Amino acid sequence: MGLQSDIVDQVRALIAGEDNVVANLANTTSLLMSATSWHWVGFYLVDKAKNELVLGPFQGPVACTRLRMGRGVCAKSWALKETIVIDDVASFEGHVACSSLSQSEVVVPILYDGVVVGVLDVDSVELNGFSSSDVKILEHVVQIIEAQWQG
Ligand code: SME
Repeated sequence: MGLQSDIVDQVRALIAGEDNVVANLANTTSLLMSATSWHWVGFYLVDKAKNELVLGPFQGPVACTRLRMGRGVCAKSWALKETIVIDDVASFEGHVACSSLSQSEVVVPILYDGVVVGVLDVDSVELNGFSSSDVKILEHVVQIIEAQWQG
């Protein structure tokens, strides 16, 4: 089951008026998870001091706590400042398998002042688990989060 576009309005309403990033990211993952049958939905945040991504609010199985620059889908999105869609994670060299059940993945970077501050990562247990509409809606959700970002 994929996303309906009204999720964007739901995210906007959910985080309106709240400036705490953790609270907003946490509720966003809950909303996305309850609206889909995805395996994992969560955020990784840039740890500037260590030049790594560190696990943020998420829903789903326990995940890798830290991801290094240069390896994996999240790090690629971070480096390229681009959404990355992987229809079959087995075909992505260097994929970091936090869960062996994940078969496809989308990662959307979160930018603040032109710099990546984190990524939204979603995993599916199905191959080709994400439609182009899902990807557009996820990017729209991230735009709302970026607009609320405080730096
Ligand atoms: N697969 C990701 C790691 C994070 S988990 O999917 C939650 C990657 O390759 O960066």
